[in-house]
Amino acid sequence: MSIRIRLLLSYTCILIVTIVLFLAAALLFVVAITGDVRSVKDFYNIHYSVNPLTEQEETIFLDLKYMAKNEPDSLLDQELLNQYNYKLRAEQAELFIRKEDKQLYSSLSVKQPAFMEHLPDYEMENNAIRNTLQIGEHFYAYAKFDFYFPDRSKGSVLVVRERSPFAEIVRTLLPIVLGVLFIVLLLMNVLLYYFLTRSIVKPLELLRKSTERITAGNLSFELHAEGNDEIAKLSEAFEVMRGKLKQSVEKQLQYEHNRKELIANITHDLKTPITSIKASIEGIRDGVPDTKQKMERYVNTILTKADDMDQLIDELFLYSKLDLKQLPFTFEPINLGHFIQDYAEDLQFDLQEQGIQLEWSIDTSPDSNVLADRDKLKRVLVNIMDNCVKYMKASPKKISITLQPEQGQLCLTIRDNGPGISEEAVPFVFERFFREDLSRSSQTGGSGLGLAIAKQIIEGHDGSIYAESKLGAGTSIIIVLPPAKQ
Ligand SMILES: Nc1ncnc2c1ncn2[C@@H]1O[C@H](COP(=O)(O)OP(=O)(O)O)[C@@H](O)[C@H]1O
Ligand SMILES: [Mg+2]
Repeated sequence: MSIRIRLLLSYTCILIVTIVLFLAAALLFVVAITGDVRSVKDFYNIHYSVNPLTEQEETIFLDLKYMAKNEPDSLLDQELLNQYNYKLRAEQAELFIRKEDKQLYSSLSVKQPAFMEHLPDYEMENNAIRNTLQIGEHFYAYAKFDFYFPDRSKGSVLVVRERSPFAEIVRTLLPIVLGVLFIVLLLMNVLLYYFLTRSIVKPLELLRKSTERITAGNLSFELHAEGNDEIAKLSEAFEVMRGKLKQSVEKQLQYEHNRKELIANITHDLKTPITSIKASIEGIRDGVPDTKQKMERYVNTILTKADDMDQLIDELFLYSKLDLKQLPFTFEPINLGHFIQDYAEDLQFDLQEQGIQLEWSIDTSPDSNVLADRDKLKRVLVNIMDNCVKYMKASPKKISITLQPEQGQLCLTIRDNGPGISEEAVPFVFERFFREDLSRSSQTGGSGLGLAIAKQIIEGHDGSIYAESKLGAGTSIIIVLPPAKQ
């Protein structure tokens, strides 16, 4: 059964139960007011019938009528009349007797002079026995019997019951009020049904359509949730799921693309030296190098290209192990300042021989203690320094190393005054196989993996690495590492 039908059924049930309860309440209300279950049955009958009194009152009235007909003088007996009146008052009615234009007997509440004036005239045929009359705000229902007293004077015996004007109004308005109430209930139910289906069924429908789209492989849409209810939250969660799914599919595609690119790069980078080696060997086989020097050149080319390949394979191996997180890090507390200073001191003379001046400003205080893997950190420094040396053209050639604390982190900057990297290329230098100027690197050699490896290693230390450079303005590689907790 669909939610729509369920809602419709439940609303109909509620409507029926409400009406039943309302009628029961109305019944109880009437019983509570009149104190008699039978009066409920008479509720309308009384009004429309000629009998405005209850059965009990009617019996007493008949007694009195009988007396008036057959022994009218007993209606002068105050004691007897008191007894009848007492019985009538138990039924919320009262006795009234007039003789000619005088009031002969009246119980307390109908003892108002106006009552006499409003009473109908004598009508000895007694055709209109039962009727109602209104005196100001008061309504009375009565049963009257006209008779002759023994002295031939006219008399009337009346059993009177006062009705509240409110009761009269309610009685007339009740069908209308009931009708209006029913219509209001019906309208309320229809509106509730409409709004509920709108807020439940519609979003559910939307969710279903969205799932169908996802099943069909379409993830590029947005599901907007309105409101703050459970269904809106479900839609929000669905939207988050769709976003994540889309991300992961895109990531998967990106991986796939990267993998293809990687294979293409590797093939290309291995193919080039192999082609060179093959050409040299073919030359030798064909006896091209006819002198000793020529032969040496050929052999040297083969050796260099084989070295290049060896290095490329080494770097590729290292990179892929780092990428797959298969290379464990052995962290130990070291003072980064001392570590870098030792490295710089070792390197200084080698660089001097190549005409490069190395200077440093290193903080060796305990503040620069870090948890690091010595070998891997060394690898990072070597890769960066290699680049500085490799791409350096200007003179005087200068490399500077600084290490200083910055915003609670350790900041290591390696700066050269080389050719720099173009602004567009800066964000990509840490990507594998990225080489800015292919023709330049074909002379300098290099796999394009050096900085990618450095990045993997620094990230393995929970640090970050980035470059700042401009063409012609030198390059700075900045490494930020978290200091060891003391
Ligand atoms: N110090 C530097 N000066 C100029 N260019 C640099 C420097 N360091 C890196 N680069 C650029 O970044 C690229 C990537 O560097 P790297 O990953 O070490 O690869 P490789 O050195 O094998 O080419 C280099 O090809 C070069 O274009
Ligand atoms: Mg390099």
